[in-house]
Order: sequence, then structure tokens, then C-alpha cells
Amino acid sequence: MKGLVLSGGFGTRLRPLTYSQQKQLIPVANKPILFYAIEDIIEAGVSEIGIIVGPNRDLVERAVKSREWDANIQFIYQDSPRGLAHTVLISEEFIGGEPFVMYLGDNLLCDGIIDHANSFRSSGADASILLTEVSHPERFGVAELNECGEVVKLVEKPKVPPSNLALVGVYLFQPVIFEAVKNIRPSWRNELEITDAIQWLVEKGYHVKASVVKGWWKDTGMPEDILSANNLILDELEASCSGDVADGSAVQGRVSIGQGTVLEEGSVVRGPVIIGRGCKISNSYIGPYTSIGDGCVVIDSEIEGSIVMDGTKINVRQKIVDSLIGANVNISESCKKPKGYRFVVGDNSEVQV
Ligand code: DAU
Repeated sequence: MKGLVLSGGFGTRLRPLTYSQQKQLIPVANKPILFYAIEDIIEAGVSEIGIIVGPNRDLVERAVKSREWDANIQFIYQDSPRGLAHTVLISEEFIGGEPFVMYLGDNLLCDGIIDHANSFRSSGADASILLTEVSHPERFGVAELNECGEVVKLVEKPKVPPSNLALVGVYLFQPVIFEAVKNIRPSWRNELEITDAIQWLVEKGYHVKASVVKGWWKDTGMPEDILSANNLILDELEASCSGDVADGSAVQGRVSIGQGTVLEEGSVVRGPVIIGRGCKISNSYIGPYTSIGDGCVVIDSEIEGSIVMDGTKINVRQKIVDSLIGANVNISESCKKPKGYRFVVGDNSEVQV
């Protein structure tokens, strides 16, 4: 079995972060979201992986190559985000007639995919989809099942959803999917939808297997989804300390502190929290469910429930909560007159004071 991970697209719902970063590289618990998908696929016994890259192909390739993987990885360039089924179409040569798992690089699954991959291997099915109950099915691909649990109908982001069962972004296919993607037309959003390709299989009488995901699943399309994925991953964090904790500082609960990070006097870190390498935390409070990247400086500040990316400096007396802060950002207090908030904020940013 081969693996196909999708790391293209523009990530418009995550602007401004996605002006300078590919959305699948945004860190959750200090690891790019994309890496969780690659790890899940390798864990399921797959050793040949193709990664679809788009607008920021260099960033994705550099990030993936910065680590050793227990698999051969190649990159497949998609010139424009023409839809999930289009990524299948351009991967036919790479897949080479084998069954494969397709994993959306912005999806996170609590329990990985080992069980799904094994049950697909032994089922003889032509395709296998994963479903989960959601409260807003209109935001996803939605499945209608009959009383025997068989797939009757699949629709992409329906205005009137036929059920509350959303398609999770992990699909298993036999090569017959190539015939399906060649037989569908672009949708109203001008994309070749994988949902339509699977519907084509259903209509032609192919066996499409559906299973319901038991653990949590996250599509990290929006800022609040990323913060909630961060909470879920930090819930499983193991405590470790490779940095220095000065006397007069306190570390409470499950906290991971990277090499070269210094917790200077007067700081309190209350887990679950992950702090990367080479950071300086001085006279500050880092509260539960916070991830702080490498090379950050936090002085005289309080922060909780947030993601702070590499190289960011925070020195502000107001408490920061539930925030997604990009790389190399500088948040400080001004003593200049006139007094007031002073912003240099990119397009499509969101600031709440
Ligand atoms: O997350 C689950 C949902 O993912 C499913 O319920 C939907 O049926 C499925 O269509 C998909 O919906 P999204 O609107 O969330 O898809 P999105 O456009 O965000 O693309 C998903 C991932 O695939 C994302 O990591 C970007 C990447 N992608 C997307 C397109 C359209 C590509 O690499 N190339 C593309 O052409």
C-alpha cells in the first residue's frame, strides 16, 4: 500500500498566517500538523509516500526534509488547488496500480489509522471512508447510510445535510478510483471533489466501506480548530526537561522544556505546556494548553491556552489567552506618548483588546 498526503491549497481561512506559511506546517504542540499525518501513515506500515505540494512547495519540502523518516518520500506538484480528486488524478504514476491511503495534511486523528488500514486490507473493499458525527455537517462532505450501514449517498458541503456524519479526511482506495476521478466534472466551487468520485463508485456498484471514527478528529481549517487540536495533543504530553529552571521558578503538572531554554526567577509554568528550544521565560506565567516554539522570549507576561511560534518576543502586562501568534512577532508595551494601542498588523489579521 502507498500513501498520499495533501499539503497543497491556499489555506485562506487561516490568513494572515498562511500568507507566509503553508497551513499544514502550522505547529500544534510544536510539531507541524503535516508531520502527524506522515507519522500515522508510516505507523500503518506504508513506506512509499507521495506529498502533494502547491503554492509554498519549497517551504513544505524543506520542512519535510529537515527530519529523517522511515519511508521514501517524494513530492508531487499541483499547479493550482483544483480539488482533492485532482490530486488523485496527478498521482496516478506515483501510485503505480497499488492500493493507497489518502490523508489530508490538515487533519488530525487521535488514534491514527492502523486499524482502518488493516480492516481495508482484509475487507476486499474498493474504497473505505471514515465518518464521524459533527454538529455542523454542512461544513464537510456528508454521508447517508442505509439501515445496514452501507453508503447510499455522499455530498460535499450540502445546504441541507442528509445526516450528521461527516467525511474524515482519510480515504483508502483501490486503483479503480482513477477511473472514478476521470469520470467526474468540477463542482460548483470549480473543484474535482473526491466526494463525487466516491459517489461515482457507489453508483457503479463498487464496494465502498464506511467506518465511524471512535476517538477525536480535527480538521484544522480555522484558528479555533488549531487551538483545540493543540489542547487535545497537549492532553497526551509527557513531561520532560532539557532546559534550566532557576530557583524561584515553579513548574507544575506536565511540562516539556526544550534544550537551552531558561526559566528565570519569578516564572510559573502550569502544564500541560510545551516550550521549545532556546527560549527565555522571565518573571512570567505560562498557563495550561500553551505551546511555545523555539527561540521565543517571554518577559513580565502571562499567557494561557495559546500557540506562540518560533522567534516571537512577548513583553506585555495584559494576560494573553486563546491566541495564535505567528513566528518572529514582537508584542510589547509602549511607553511613548500619546498612550494607546499601536499596531503593525498584516491583512486579514484579527486583534481583540
Ligand atoms: O477535513 C475533512 C473534509 O475535507 C471533508 O469532510 C470534505 O469532504 C473534503 O472535501 C475536505 O473539505 P475541506 O473544505 O476541508 O478541504 P480543503 O479545501 O481544506 O482541503 C483539504 C486539504 O487538502 C488541505 O490540507 C489542502 C489540501 N488540498 C486541497 C485542495 C482543494 C490540496 O492539496 N489540493 C487541492 O486541490
